[in-house]
Amino acid sequence: MSKSKVFITRHLPKIDLEPLHQIAEIEIWTARQPPPYSLLLDKVKEIDGLLCLLTDSIDRELIETGKSLKVISQMAVGYDNIDVAAATAKHIPVGNTPGVLTNATADLTWALLMAIARRIVEAERFVQAGEWKTWEPTLLLGADLQGATLGIIGLGRIGQAVARRARGFDMKVLYYSRRRKNKELEESIGVEYAELDTLLSQADIISLHTSLSPETEHLISDRELQLMKSSAILINTARGAIINQQALYQALINNQIAGAALDVTDPEPIPMDSPLLKLNNIIITPHIGSASYQTRAKMAQMAVDNLIAGLQGTRLPHCVNK
Ligand code: DGY
Repeated sequence: MSKSKVFITRHLPKIDLEPLHQIAEIEIWTARQPPPYSLLLDKVKEIDGLLCLLTDSIDRELIETGKSLKVISQMAVGYDNIDVAAATAKHIPVGNTPGVLTNATADLTWALLMAIARRIVEAERFVQAGEWKTWEPTLLLGADLQGATLGIIGLGRIGQAVARRARGFDMKVLYYSRRRKNKELEESIGVEYAELDTLLSQADIISLHTSLSPETEHLISDRELQLMKSSAILINTARGAIINQQALYQALINNQIAGAALDVTDPEPIPMDSPLLKLNNIIITPHIGSASYQTRAKMAQMAVDNLIAGLQGTRLPHCVNK
């Protein structure tokens, strides 16, 4: 029986690819930059399976060009770069990697939250610049977490893991999500439901954990930033376009909010001439929420398992088509 053909759009973390080798001819794009769209469009004409990343645009045109395409497997939990409706219309299953990156992403959210609240990056730059001359009572003051209110927008797996970690800091946790969660869950993780505007005006720290969709694009814009406290801190480890970055810039330079920490931007990477990069009250990291050795290996394994299932015509272990 002839082997299937698969294309993997970047080097994966080290995992056992033997089971995939047994059923497929594998081509891996080895450059650091993603394959150009035009190349993907060409490739998709001859492959049965595609293992892609959030940096690849898997749109309707590409999906419809893939005449023999049987499966699209994304190595990420988010899949806003894939036209799932177009895939579904062609009966192509789309896989993702939920669950395994929850804790790593929640940990990074907390790392950013603490770093911006206590001005760690600014303080480190201060030392590097040779400005540390003495202990000063008012040097680099930040915000206490104990007793502060954390506002979580989107209480899926990652939002819940972020909420659980807040317990260790004795914080009050409000959350907003499209659908209110049941009482048992709220009680077990110690969160209280609030309408979006209430959360925005009461929280000291606001952390975003929704997926990106037409409803959540620019969910945080001028109006929402105006509702926040002038001491508020905004954290985004979800998707860049949930925040209107122009509006965020204005809010930060006008001291409408105190600071922001972003692991995701719009676009990615953030252009080097972005005015956000000139501000002191922001930390920007390069989309590393899931970037631990263990987590990335699990994500790669899950993506390969989804790919194999799709090639064999069985249900993907993690399938996002409705
Ligand atoms: C995801 O999985 O969607 C993250 O953004 C990258 O790990």
